[in-house]
Amino acid sequence: MNHQLSDLSPEGLRTFVGEQLERSRARTVQLTDAVDTDDLVKQHSKLMSPLVWDYAHIGNQEELWLVRDVGGREPLRQDIDELYDAFQHPRADRPSLPLLGPVETRAYVTEVRDKVLDVLDHVKFDPEKLGADRELVHNAFAFGMITQHEQQHDETMLATHQLREGAPVLDAPPPPAGRPLPSPEVFVPGGVFEMGTSIEPWALDNERPAHGVHVKPFVIDTVPVTNGDYLRFVLGGGYQDPQWWSEAGWAHVQKASLVAPRFWSQVDGEWWRLRFGHREQLPLDEPVMHVCFYEAEAYAKWAGKRLPSEEEWEFAARFDPSSGRTRRFPWGDESPGPQHANLGQRHLRPAPVGAYPAGASPLGVEQLIGDLWEWTSSDFRPYPGFRAWPYDEYSLVFFGPDYKVLRGGSFGTDEVVARGTFRNWDYPIRRQIFAGFRCARDARPEEVHAEELHA
Ligand SMILES: [Fe+2]
Repeated sequence: MNHQLSDLSPEGLRTFVGEQLERSRARTVQLTDAVDTDDLVKQHSKLMSPLVWDYAHIGNQEELWLVRDVGGREPLRQDIDELYDAFQHPRADRPSLPLLGPVETRAYVTEVRDKVLDVLDHVKFDPEKLGADRELVHNAFAFGMITQHEQQHDETMLATHQLREGAPVLDAPPPPAGRPLPSPEVFVPGGVFEMGTSIEPWALDNERPAHGVHVKPFVIDTVPVTNGDYLRFVLGGGYQDPQWWSEAGWAHVQKASLVAPRFWSQVDGEWWRLRFGHREQLPLDEPVMHVCFYEAEAYAKWAGKRLPSEEEWEFAARFDPSSGRTRRFPWGDESPGPQHANLGQRHLRPAPVGAYPAGASPLGVEQLIGDLWEWTSSDFRPYPGFRAWPYDEYSLVFFGPDYKVLRGGSFGTDEVVARGTFRNWDYPIRRQIFAGFRCARDARPEEVHAEELHA
């Protein structure tokens, strides 16, 4: 998936879209077939919808955008639109709604998909034949939006699997092994770079438009903070000492009685973690996961550092100092392959640090894409020149200080979503998502000076 999408013939685009729709559906089916009927309809956590709600909601959004809007076809099930409108019912209330059961849900999403494939067969992608909905159909944007929507819900369903109690039902091979790092930190020279995008055809509204941003020189961790690093903070009394926490963070830690990352436990002095039903010894060289923004912020302060801003994160991930260009990904413009990043539920955990040397940025920062979402210090805000499109509820209604930006995608994020420009956001208290962090710090004058002599 790349901006060369616009070079494809209408037939090539049709084939590409068909493959993406098929891939996302295969994943949805895998995640929902893995559990029995009880587990499909049950709410595994107040934070999550029942899996069967996500499943029918995926079909309903696909019907609204592709069958009715793009296809101009008659509604299949207008009566259920309200039930599956995420803005009508908070997650906690969804189990009490008269939802479609598993059998009805499967029949509904299949029927929608059959109609969508027919729409796809007939839709005109040729620029000269595009009518009023030109923008929605141009480069198959609406299809891209819907396949990303399904993959994003698949990641949410994967998080529900992590919260589900009982024996493991998902399996995947282990990620590649780690390696010793050339250096724990990377100096980033700063300067003006192009942030965001105006050319990625399937980029969503909050990633647009591309705009120049000035970043001061800074230093960033080569890789995310590991379980081993974080354990030292836990054992050093980090959760008991208010000096490391922001006011809001300290209030939350006390109210929620946090003492360690979610899914960690200590038995007879040994640390364990629960991962998709497997209880295993805490792997010290794997990035720490299931920490909230406040925990990330506190660790960074304890370590004498801070979290990177979103601008710094993207500069470290995309800027190529030798050409002055902003790349699509840390490793270049090529779409992610298994050698670059841990994405797409290929593995059911983050990889140990150092596992992806081929995914390094030109400056040598690693594992920026995949493994886990990284908390940044930034609130979720629109870029200059932002335009809400194609609907306000994707981003516009979420902008403001309530949400913190996460970047990079996790092992549960699909490559169709994990662009170098993709922005995720969540409340600073959330821990059920596949999120961790890396630290940054201001560059010291002597570091800036040494770099200048070097250049
Ligand atoms: Fe949704």
